Amino acid sequence: MNNKFEKNVCCIGAGYVGGPTMSVIASNCPAIRIDVVDINKERIEAWNCNDLSQLPVFEPGLEEIVKKCRGKNLFFSNKVEESIAKADIVFISVNTPTKTRGIGAGYASDLKWIESSARQIAQFARNHTVVVEKSTLPVKTAETIKTILNSSEQSDDIGGDDNKKTFSIVSNPEFLAEGTAIEDLQNPDRVLIGGEDDFSINLISDIYKNWIDPDKIITTNLWSSELSKLVANAFLAQRISSINSISALCENTGADIIEVSKAIGTDSRIGSKFLKPGPGFGGSCFKKDILNLVYLSRYYGLREVGDYWEQVVDINQWQQRRISSLVIKNLFGTLSNKKLAVFGFSFKANTNDTRESPSINISKNLLQEGAKLSFYDPKVNEKQIFTEFDNSQEEIFVYDTALKAAEGADAIIVLTEWEEFNCLDWNDIFKIMRKPAWIFDARVFLDKTSLENIGFKVWSLGT
Ligand code: UDX
Ligand code: UDX
Repeated sequence: MNNKFEKNVCCIGAGYVGGPTMSVIASNCPAIRIDVVDINKERIEAWNCNDLSQLPVFEPGLEEIVKKCRGKNLFFSNKVEESIAKADIVFISVNTPTKTRGIGAGYASDLKWIESSARQIAQFARNHTVVVEKSTLPVKTAETIKTILNSSEQSDDIGGDDNKKTFSIVSNPEFLAEGTAIEDLQNPDRVLIGGEDDFSINLISDIYKNWIDPDKIITTNLWSSELSKLVANAFLAQRISSINSISALCENTGADIIEVSKAIGTDSRIGSKFLKPGPGFGGSCFKKDILNLVYLSRYYGLREVGDYWEQVVDINQWQQRRISSLVIKNLFGTLSNKKLAVFGFSFKANTNDTRESPSINISKNLLQEGAKLSFYDPKVNEKQIFTEFDNSQEEIFVYDTALKAAEGADAIIVLTEWEEFNCLDWNDIFKIMRKPAWIFDARVFLDKTSLENIGFKVWSLGT
């Protein structure tokens, strides 16, 4: 049934990484059949939904690609075993959350999904299969995967078929950022492929060469590739913690963080990217990957290295506590009987992802002080917001417009930099708020002067 395809690819995990990555590969490689499989039935149904606005992941450009490829060379299903059996290449894109118990709890990645995926591949693969680590993993995870796969190489687990299975492993980490995933996948700075044999490295390189300049494809050994992914995220997060630490100093000295950020970012050795101050980094990767690096460093006896990187996470949490305290302090030291509107719940603009969003911790701090919170986010729905709070539902309201959320509020806390917040009619909003009406701009992106001219009291981070 697949004769018209040159290669069969299976991707385990139809999440934020697996879904968009495979869609872009399918779009650029019509000769490859891609089956994206997931144990989650609801998620697969959503990927197969006729109404493309219901796809489980919101990414600019994704709908068009899914529309073009789905049913042609891109398929979403729960048929994990069948898809593995016919695949030449299996990408593993399952989630690797931080362990919550046992050895390394709070730091190390929980590899139970990786292990179960490896066991499924070991059981159902046929002939030679190249297994690609797409999920971000601790260094040396390939060793674990290899051990599981090798133990099945000689066995015949698929019911009397006398094929001889063999495996090779490649690390091909993703560097896509949510909100720009399609653009990042279509025009990446580089593609990293780490492996142990030329055949497998070339096989994966050839896929990317369909649309990416070969000069941008970097090949390394397995361990360099695994480590580079963790280190790339650690360096990016470190820049954010660095600028956020300076934002506090600016507030105390009269310097302006936007001016400082520009002044240092124009030094080409420093560069201007990732120097935006804010309520701290969120998202599924940065914290998890740094904690992983910390765990690894300590595991190898490098306590100072671990301590150094842990500070990046500490500063991030401190920034969120600091912003919460400033809100409370400016609202006369108490939030009892006050209504605060939270604008933005996703961890950054242009995504509906709320994992590790700074809005979660800051909102929890404000709730603890007795505030009632009304939320508005252009892409995050009520159900998603409620799941982040356990018993506080009486104090939480979610609205479908900014205006409704602001009605009767004492303050608006802007926590995600949605462009739409710059286009709101702030005059109308001011009229319906309780006075004095405060705006806390934790993303430093609203026009402070014009808001002050309307009558708002404005606090802007780092100014
Ligand atoms: C995940 C990790 O968080 C990240 O570190 C890594 O780089 C890539 O994989 P993401 O795609 O954002 O990122 O995760 P998520 O959206 O949770 O998707 C993972 C999917 O894997 C889920 O849909 C889950 O149902 C599926 N899964 C998990 C399987 O299909 N099989 C399993 O055994 C486990
Ligand atoms: C990140 C990496 O960028 C990507 O390469 C990796 O594969 C996955 O993790 P992502 O988490 O999607 O991607 O988003 P990113 O754009 O990196 O932003 C992460 C967090 O940092 C967001 O909360 C964002 O608001 C914050 N951020 C980013 C800042 O506060 N300031 C900045 O200058 C940049």
